[in-house]
Amino acid sequence: MNLGPETFEGRVVLVTGTASGIGLATVAMLLDAGARVHAADFRAPLVKERLGAERLASGRVSVHQLDVTDPDAVEETIGRIGEEAPIDALVCCAGTNVPNRRMEQLTDANWRLLLETNLTGVFSCLRAAMPQLRRTRGHVVVVSSVSALWPDVSGPAYQASKAGVLALVRGAAVEEHEQGVRFTSILPAMVATELMDKRPEPPSPEVREKSLQPEDVAATIVFSLSLPARACVAELTLVPNELQVLGRTY
Ligand code: NAI
Repeated sequence: MNLGPETFEGRVVLVTGTASGIGLATVAMLLDAGARVHAADFRAPLVKERLGAERLASGRVSVHQLDVTDPDAVEETIGRIGEEAPIDALVCCAGTNVPNRRMEQLTDANWRLLLETNLTGVFSCLRAAMPQLRRTRGHVVVVSSVSALWPDVSGPAYQASKAGVLALVRGAAVEEHEQGVRFTSILPAMVATELMDKRPEPPSPEVREKSLQPEDVAATIVFSLSLPARACVAELTLVPNELQVLGRTY
């Protein structure tokens, strides 16, 4: 399989949630593969700091300050990006969780935060990007979670948001695939990212070491994007081999 510049040269990809973890690794991998990348996050300065001077100097990456829970800002940012060149791919990585996530602890505010970030944030990006994606016969990749399928320590609000996003992507795909737009849901299990620090009991260094690394998930995203237009990874579960098997999350 060729993931060289021929695959991504001239392709415009918008990635959300790029200040850390899976989104940051995806931006780096796409830039190295030759894509034109728009990196959006509500911590834009951190995106720049972590991408580093060399990648920023490539001239192929723009960093956007964007809170995906603000639909007007999403609309404005994606519209502005499209004025330069329409988006060929949208990769939704922005997501969050809270430590007080058990049913008995969940507040209204935290329920809303998780649903607005993990589900409505994806919807807003999708709605804003769809006109461009229809024009380019583009590709949408959304990071859901295995916890959408098997409840685990991530809490009912997070699980509802990730199951919701899986349903949103399935529904959108049914309506849009005949226009040539592809939809992919990636469902990872434990990934060693900053999200783990939000667990009530953050995992040990040993467990983090055996977990998936952000680059593993980024590789599945880039792989999905690299397939020819006739082929679409609809859903892909990815688990850390030594820690868990399907249906039994750590
Ligand atoms: P992370 O915390 O490193 O990355 C999430 C990024 O989203 C952060 O850089 C943050 O600044 C950004 N973000 C959060 N809220 C935002 C908002 N309102 N607007 C814009 N940006 C925002 O965590 P990770 O693991 O890289 O998460 C990426 C995606 O993967 C998330 O959707 C997460 O739910 C999902 N996921 C993570 C797993 C894990 O074990 N780490 C497992 C399964 C799914």
